[in-house]
Amino acid sequence: MEELSRLAVLGAGHAGPVIARLAIKAGYPVAIATSGDPEDIALITELVIPGARARWAADAVANADIVVLAIPLHRFLDLDPGLLNGKVVVDAMNYWPASDGVLTPVTGGGSSEIVARRLAGSAVVKALNHIGYHELEDRARPAGAPDRRAAGVAGDDPVAVATIAGLVDRVGYDPVRLENLRAGRVLEPGGPVFGTVLTLPEFERAMREDARSLT
Ligand SMILES: NC(=O)c1ccc[n+]([C@@H]2O[C@H](COP(=O)([O-])OP(=O)(O)OC[C@H]3O[C@@H](n4cnc5c(N)ncnc54)[C@H](OP(=O)(O)O)[C@@H]3O)[C@@H](O)[C@H]2O)c1
Repeated sequence: MEELSRLAVLGAGHAGPVIARLAIKAGYPVAIATSGDPEDIALITELVIPGARARWAADAVANADIVVLAIPLHRFLDLDPGLLNGKVVVDAMNYWPASDGVLTPVTGGGSSEIVARRLAGSAVVKALNHIGYHELEDRARPAGAPDRRAAGVAGDDPVAVATIAGLVDRVGYDPVRLENLRAGRVLEPGGPVFGTVLTLPEFERAMREDARSLT
């Protein structure tokens, strides 16, 4: 059997555990971390994310090929970028001023571009951010299922994008590869597919209509 990449999921709130569960179901080895002591989430991890290992963030990242950022964006700004050097990083975060506060560096641009600029030593791919955590789990379907939905993948490094498209596919969504990280703005709050759970044709139509509305 093909050996899958090792995942570290940073964030054990709403989105992190769902992403961790989907990845475990798909066969990925998964570690999960908060900013604190893994002992604090050990029991809940065992109960809610069976198969995942609770770790210190630094240990989870050190042992991972792919790091999923499922933490509030304002907390990301405190994360040491060096920790993520050399990793494929999935930016599952969204800029949400109501909870993040006004983050001047992010205002007026794509938040993943800011994330990528801070993580210059990593390959950042925007994915798994635009579907709410309940739906993300409930709507996941195996490849070929008639009611399978689509999920966007955007990045500037084609190898990393292919890796994450594979992850998205395995966890239950038709991956839609966007041109680059900047193009991934359509996946962010205010974009045409944010907060929706669309089939592939619906997803592509929403993108086309958005592109037309901008011309
Ligand atoms: N909610 C959704 O439906 C959904 C879906 C897709 C994407 N997202 C995005 O995912 C991000 C997280 O959302 P959420 O709703 O899951 O947030 P949340 O429920 O507030 O959970 C945030 C988690 O991040 C942890 N954390 C904070 N700083 C950290 C750090 N430096 N290292 C490791 N862990 C850290 C927190 O634990 P400690 O405070 O104990 O460290 C907590 O477990 C947001 O940007 C959101 O837009 C959310």
